Amino acid sequence: MKRTPLAELLQTELERQDFHPRLPGYKRVYEAIRGAIVNRRLPAGAKLPSSRDLARELDASRNMIVAAYDQLQAEGYVESQTGSGTYVAEALPDGFSNDGSHVRYQFLGDAAEDDEAVSLSKRGARLTREEGMDAYEVQPLALSGKMDLLNFPIKTWQRVQNQVWRRDDVNLYDYDTTGGYLQLKRAVADYLRVSRGVALDADQVLITGGTQQSLDLISRMLADQNDIAWVENPCYWGAWSSFYANDLNIRPIAVDLEGMNPSAEDLASPPPKFIYVTPSHQYPTGAVMSLARRKSLIEYAQRANAWILEDDYDSEFRYAGRPVASLQGLAAEAGVPRVLYMGTFSKVIYPGIKLAYVVLPHALIPSFKTALYDLYRPGQLHLQAALAEFIDQGHFTTHIRRLRQAYAQRRTLLLAVLDRALKGKVQQVVVDAGLLLVIKLPSHIDDVALSAQCQSNGLSVRPLSRYYIGETDVRGLVVGFAYVDTNDLVECGKRLGDMIGAVLT
Ligand SMILES: Cc1ncc(COP(=O)(O)O)c(C=O)c1O
Repeated sequence: MKRTPLAELLQTELERQDFHPRLPGYKRVYEAIRGAIVNRRLPAGAKLPSSRDLARELDASRNMIVAAYDQLQAEGYVESQTGSGTYVAEALPDGFSNDGSHVRYQFLGDAAEDDEAVSLSKRGARLTREEGMDAYEVQPLALSGKMDLLNFPIKTWQRVQNQVWRRDDVNLYDYDTTGGYLQLKRAVADYLRVSRGVALDADQVLITGGTQQSLDLISRMLADQNDIAWVENPCYWGAWSSFYANDLNIRPIAVDLEGMNPSAEDLASPPPKFIYVTPSHQYPTGAVMSLARRKSLIEYAQRANAWILEDDYDSEFRYAGRPVASLQGLAAEAGVPRVLYMGTFSKVIYPGIKLAYVVLPHALIPSFKTALYDLYRPGQLHLQAALAEFIDQGHFTTHIRRLRQAYAQRRTLLLAVLDRALKGKVQQVVVDAGLLLVIKLPSHIDDVALSAQCQSNGLSVRPLSRYYIGETDVRGLVVGFAYVDTNDLVECGKRLGDMIGAVLT
């Protein structure tokens, strides 16, 4: 079909734009038209085709075009004249920078109206194009501003810290050139071998400044620009942001109740460099990857020469049944050293500790140690040493046991409260693990609006649709229950149940 010049222009604009992978289709069309207006390729007064015509020419759904036109109109880029059509506005919206390379970016929470435009790199602009990426992934359900750390043995932690600071060891004040404090690497290795079935020796452990740093290091060391990363869809924001910032091409792979489920088309497409998975407890749906899927993923990774990045971020928290062993262990058993296993102390100690680890195949150890030092200059050796003591003195396992009991209790309580309010109205996804639960909602519910409404009522919950890359009709709320005090939980749960109930009736 021969396209009109305008459709041709928009098609070029759509292909030219380096879109954010989570950008839904209508936003792509919106961005393409907005870009053309801003760059004056679509001059003031130009008439846009009808939504039906444009949908046909771009081979897109009409709803998508209508939604894009609506947004452009709401923001003042186009004007609609009843009966006559849609036109590019004579004047661009207020304060708009006419240079497409300038992205207007205002820092969240900046009370002062700082209207200065800043130039971000192309990569930075892509990363921040979509708002809503908060600092925390798992947030407390209540917006009281206090995280419930009552279970954290603060006195013991202080005592262990003091013991370390009293040590007469000048090396602890230096940078770390060895990929992590040896005692901590040994402690992590012992823990992972026994608790998670990871096949390793201590030398394979690299201590990093958090999972984000682990992912960044892995991308920088193993991927080139435009290499493909398979990610779960829905996915942990931090992972794709990091791949994205490292110029990887992201291919979202559907997740079902057995975890990542590549289609025949995925398997037949050019192979990925990375396969990022959360097999013990898929983030955020909670699916546990089945043994059959694990095996086929390992086989595929071997065939495709891909690296599996296993993010085992909260496997400590299983409330029933037997813990699921790591994918890394299974791959090692099969003689396939293609898994990089990642874990973190964010969930089991506290998020701000920013200490995590990667278990590397032997062949990668020397290069990764060098890169870790050259790129990030790690240190915090007192903290690493104290954590090692905390583990070796047995406090870590006691702490995890207590946390598990407390979280299981909170989860049961929240489920019971929600069940009372919502029985029969929603399909609740319940898994026996993790620090979140997902409440699935019918697809006509606007979960973004609902979560904003909850937020303004003091409840911090996430819209499930925002974890998806591209369009989805899945709707729901992701609810963190771990850091809310038991007393607050009942009240919060009731309030949440009422708010969901109200949109369902
Ligand atoms: C899936 C997943 N991986 C890793 C992390 C932790 O990352 P970090 O170690 O950078 O705190 C989180 C935090 O919420 C997460 O949800």
